[in-house]
Amino acid sequence: MIEILRNRRSTRKFTSEKISDEQLNVLKEALLLAPTSRNFEPCEFIIVRDKEMLKKLSVLKPHGATFLAECDTAFVICGDTDKSDVCVEDTSIASIILQLTAESLGLGSCWAQVRMRNHNEEMQSDEYIKQTLNLPANLMVTSVIGIGYAETKLSPKDFDSLKHEKIHIERY
Ligand SMILES: Cc1cc2nc3c(=O)[nH]c(=O)nc-3n(C[C@H](O)[C@H](O)[C@H](O)COP(=O)(O)O)c2cc1C
Repeated sequence: MIEILRNRRSTRKFTSEKISDEQLNVLKEALLLAPTSRNFEPCEFIIVRDKEMLKKLSVLKPHGATFLAECDTAFVICGDTDKSDVCVEDTSIASIILQLTAESLGLGSCWAQVRMRNHNEEMQSDEYIKQTLNLPANLMVTSVIGIGYAETKLSPKDFDSLKHEKIHIERY
């Protein structure tokens, strides 16, 4: 696991190589294995591979989501607010587990932030995705994770460059 954590970097440039069905199945399994508070399992996942739909997702906000147009597969990570009051935590855990699983499969990924972001002056990003994907009102969208084969891979962070001072022992 530490090797996966060391090597994972956000990927925003993808090749046109397709993710295999086997890899897709592992990614789906990882999502369903993600822990949730009180095991309420409020998460719902929409897998988007259609190019036109990926283009629509890439403009969920003015900046920071353009990479979704180029990725092979986008996972829209949603939480059912009728099922849990801690959907933000549950969906975030599912998101990062998906990213780490992608890394373990030799794939690159990047998170597009949805909560608290705006599609344009009139519409929040969450609302835009809901309309685009026909989501019911009780689903909140936390992230869209774009996955594919990396065109370029950022270097792992150097151990000495990590902010070791952020770790506090016994008290702050
Ligand atoms: C909660 C969260 C939201 C993020 N949102 C975006 C985003 O909207 N667009 C983007 O390009 N990257 C996004 N990222 C990726 C971060 O920019 C990236 O993880 C950070 O710069 C560290 O780089 P690394 O992932 O290569 O280690 C997000 C990451 C997290 C954890």
